[in-house]
Amino acid sequence: MAVTSSSVDACTHLKRPSYRSLVNAVLRKHLRQGGHKRLDQNGYAATPHWLLNEFRQSWPDEWQQIATESNQRPPQTLRVNHRQLTRGAYITELCREGIPVSISPLSSSALTLHRPRPVHQIPGFSEGVVSIQDAAAQLVPWFLGPVTGQRVLDACAAPGSKACHLLESEPNMAALWAIDLPERIPLIEQNFRRLGVEAVLLAGDASQPNAWWDGERFDAILVDAPCSGAGVIRRHPDIRLHRRPEDLSASVATQIKLLSALWTLLKPGGRLLYVTCSVLEQENDRVVDSFLTNHVDAQTKKIQSAWGRSTRHGWQLLPGDGGGDGFYFARLERRPDQQQHAITSTGL
Ligand SMILES: C[S@@+](CC[C@H](N)C(=O)[O-])C[C@H]1O[C@@H](n2cnc3c(N)ncnc32)[C@H](O)[C@@H]1O
Repeated sequence: MAVTSSSVDACTHLKRPSYRSLVNAVLRKHLRQGGHKRLDQNGYAATPHWLLNEFRQSWPDEWQQIATESNQRPPQTLRVNHRQLTRGAYITELCREGIPVSISPLSSSALTLHRPRPVHQIPGFSEGVVSIQDAAAQLVPWFLGPVTGQRVLDACAAPGSKACHLLESEPNMAALWAIDLPERIPLIEQNFRRLGVEAVLLAGDASQPNAWWDGERFDAILVDAPCSGAGVIRRHPDIRLHRRPEDLSASVATQIKLLSALWTLLKPGGRLLYVTCSVLEQENDRVVDSFLTNHVDAQTKKIQSAWGRSTRHGWQLLPGDGGGDGFYFARLERRPDQQQHAITSTGL
């Protein structure tokens, strides 16, 4: 009923008031005929055909599970700021306030509220004790590895969740640079302020480093690339409606452009963690295939966590794995200089 009435109201907002009664009649008929119940029983019916095909091509055995999970209500997962409190201490505080939670098996900073609540009702949220972040997204520090004393670049940083997590996990980084497009920077600033963390914040295009890079290479680079979002449909159901098949090739082109431009900023021996919130092979292993073909000084390093599955080049969590969203991670390492010479000199 809520969907019906807001759709009818939308006709007025979209300056099409004459469509109100038509929209009302169509949606009410749909409800009378039990269409909404059929969708619930046949979970993947809500996903467009082209996207189901993409799921099927990427995951022949799991595509139905992916589609069904994409229709579930996502859990509200918190990230405990280890600079302020341990997860155990925060759970004790929640128990005292009668708020039931579960520990997430994916990350030592993650826990899930049994009943979602607005942020202002989450103890410690405004003081920066906790943030809202999916549990699979909290695997980044684990896959990136220790960054003590290191110079780190977060190349697609907004709204800043992963940058904040890195800063919370390692107070002794040499520096964290966080870059995103200018219009997205205020989101990062807001999160940094709430959590009381600091980084070098840059507004710009990460694929054009000549405009912002100081020439000193990074030990580690995080590329949490823009993607289809096919792994987070349960959180953003509108993806089903707005995404078009042709969007995929555009996002793959951006992903490859970002990786290629940023690779030269990495020290020999350094590592780049490529992340997407997608389950589609096109945006994941196939992007890495293309990257490796054109960069002989790059190699992938095997990574794994307790939940998810190994892919040709990385690690994939499907929606619902360990309670998290669908995320892909690949760790690319830049060969030290001598090895690079050896490889080139043998003509590989
Ligand atoms: C998946 S989101 C990043 C989420 C972020 N890492 C976090 O954890 O909060 C992808 C980001 O890439 C940014 N982006 C897209 N193209 C970019 C470019 N050429 N340079 C820098 N950032 C870009 C988008 O604005 C978006 O904020």
